[in-house]
Amino acid sequence: MARYARITGWGKYLPQKVLTNQELERLVDTSDAWIISRTGIKERRIAANDETASTMAVHAAREALKAAGLEPHCLDLVITATCTPELIFPACASLVQNSLGARKAAAFDLNAACSGFIYALATACQFITAGSYKNILVVGSEVYSRILNWKNRNTCVLFGDGAGAVVVQASDSPGSLSFVLGNDGSRAGSIYTPGPCGLNQGPYYLTMNGREVFRFAVNVICLATKQAVKAAGLELSDIDLLIPHQANTRILKSAAKAIGLPLEKVFINVDRYGNTSAASIPIALCEAIEEGRLKERDRLVLVGFGGGLSWAAMVLQWGQGKR
Ligand code: UT7
Repeated sequence: MARYARITGWGKYLPQKVLTNQELERLVDTSDAWIISRTGIKERRIAANDETASTMAVHAAREALKAAGLEPHCLDLVITATCTPELIFPACASLVQNSLGARKAAAFDLNAACSGFIYALATACQFITAGSYKNILVVGSEVYSRILNWKNRNTCVLFGDGAGAVVVQASDSPGSLSFVLGNDGSRAGSIYTPGPCGLNQGPYYLTMNGREVFRFAVNVICLATKQAVKAAGLELSDIDLLIPHQANTRILKSAAKAIGLPLEKVFINVDRYGNTSAASIPIALCEAIEEGRLKERDRLVLVGFGGGLSWAAMVLQWGQGKR
């Protein structure tokens, strides 16, 4: 029996429409200079009217399946990490399964906000190393543009839309080496979006205490990364690349410093896409691969944080192909 779970395919989808900081200057009392200096974000993508979490997920998934050389009907499971699905039910994953023609696959959504992709990837790896499934699609897809108050400068400048996907397969070589998942529900109020099943009437806008989330993020990136590296039996010096959730360049720089990792080992693309929540890590992973930042047997850390307040980190040994 194959002992390891390995990423064998990857894909991303970004909507065509680019929303620049200059355009935001016309919507709210903000400036390109403020946004760049406080966040590092220059532009983000916005889904078209006919695009949803599931349609974007399908684009990213098709690319990932193609890279893995896997037919959709071979998938055992589809997990979609999202907190902006088009329907309360059925799950976004159910729509993705149908569009792909993944007729043998089970399908469910997983909501751990911006940590969702790593939660979903860890879940997929558990199914595989337990021997239950061989071929799993994990997608992060978000349309935060639909839960933002476009009159609130505190939040609307930070987020963007997009999707990223990976295929995870059973393999004889590593693979996933360790994961750390965590949550502090006592701080659920730090960043949240109400919905139609709660006690409040809409509109349902994302609400956030930016400073609180900032402090939490720097601490938890550092802690979760160190814990995951230790759990993998490695030292920080063994790590070749850190791919963090892309929320804010300042958060990532402070965290890299606190961890003691040189900035060259931290992948950052928040400047072009803003914070795409559960989609940000798989999109960043795709771009890291496209840019040749990952070589055979490199050790990679994925680390995420966000609503919950939740956090998640995972250590992987990189290797192209199934074996
Ligand atoms: O996936 C997790 C999701 N969330 C996050 O990662 C967010 C984490 N937090 C952050 O990234 C930062 O806290 C922010 C970027 C949200 C804010 O940066 P900050 O350096 O913590 O600024 P601040 O909240 O201390 O606000 C500084 C000032 C405030 O004005 P006053 O009260 O000092 O007069 C804000 O009203 O900046 C003002 N401000 C803005 N000014 C221009 C807030 N948003 C804007 C804006 N344009 N868009």
